[in-house]
Amino acid sequence: MKREGYEKALITGASSGLGQEYATQLAQTGTDLILVARRHERLKALATGLSTSYGVKIEVLPADLSQDEDLEKVVLKIRQTCNLDLLINNAGFGGHGKFHLEDGGEAERMIKVHVLATTILTRAALPSMLVRHHGAIINVASVAAFSPLSGTMYSSTKAFEVMFSENLQSELYDTGLKVQALCPGLTHTEFHQVAGIKAEAIPGMFWMKAEDVVKISLRALSGHKVIIVPGTKNKLMTFFLRCPWTFALAHWAARQKKIRHIADSSLR
Ligand SMILES: NC(=O)c1ccc[n+]([C@@H]2O[C@H](COP(=O)([O-])OP(=O)(O)OC[C@H]3O[C@@H](n4cnc5c(N)ncnc54)[C@H](OP(=O)(O)O)[C@@H]3O)[C@@H](O)[C@H]2O)c1
Repeated sequence: MKREGYEKALITGASSGLGQEYATQLAQTGTDLILVARRHERLKALATGLSTSYGVKIEVLPADLSQDEDLEKVVLKIRQTCNLDLLINNAGFGGHGKFHLEDGGEAERMIKVHVLATTILTRAALPSMLVRHHGAIINVASVAAFSPLSGTMYSSTKAFEVMFSENLQSELYDTGLKVQALCPGLTHTEFHQVAGIKAEAIPGMFWMKAEDVVKISLRALSGHKVIIVPGTKNKLMTFFLRCPWTFALAHWAARQKKIRHIADSSLR
């Protein structure tokens, strides 16, 4: 499948993992970048490396997307960048606490970063893309969007990203714009370390490399599908979780103490 070319991309969560990999692969094809995350030093180092290696223009914009003023800064940057033709809503984090036990504001932060930032940044990016009849939005969701075992807030905010993308693509069907909900499974990044999940307890066969996940996502922008699940094992798992006959089994499993225990420490 031929890969679309993009002039300028804004990537949230570009300081590590999938966001950093999107930045690298897009820089390699000559796309100018705006990199957003909280860790300024990491963004600066990435920007210097990529602009030196590939000659692209890179701006860094440190921002905490759970903070209104910072989110507003990113909105402003998007509105001022009339040649922005790719927005990647990738910033995110996992949780390991149970919803009924957690009261530290993690649920609200997750809604702000996964739901509110995705919504507001997408709305800011669309007008100039619509004028040019060209552009794409990638929302990095997760296979957890389909699972009753992956954390109440994490799964539900990721499910929002999937349905938001599906419905938005329907609304935009005749505009030339493309919306993607990327649904990775376990991928080697800093995600599990940040969430306090013991990644080493999960067998290697279930993991993918960030490089492969991003390659699949970018290639799929020239196809028709909205929901992209990278990797055969993740596709099978998603089928199992969505198929009416096996869905009941997944629900039964989600209520078994032993299975919940394994899931609590792995699938996010
Ligand atoms: N890795 C997996 O197994 C997996 C599976 C399915 C889906 N995903 C999804 O993939 C996306 C990227 O995660 P990753 O795996 O690449 O993990 P990661 O290496 O931990 O990267 C997460 C990125 O999000 C940024 N971020 C987190 N909170 C933020 C905030 N409040 N404001 C701004 N930026 C914030 C982090 O930057 P700073 O800390 O510098 O702010 C970092 O750049 C997430 O949406 C995640 O849910 C990951």
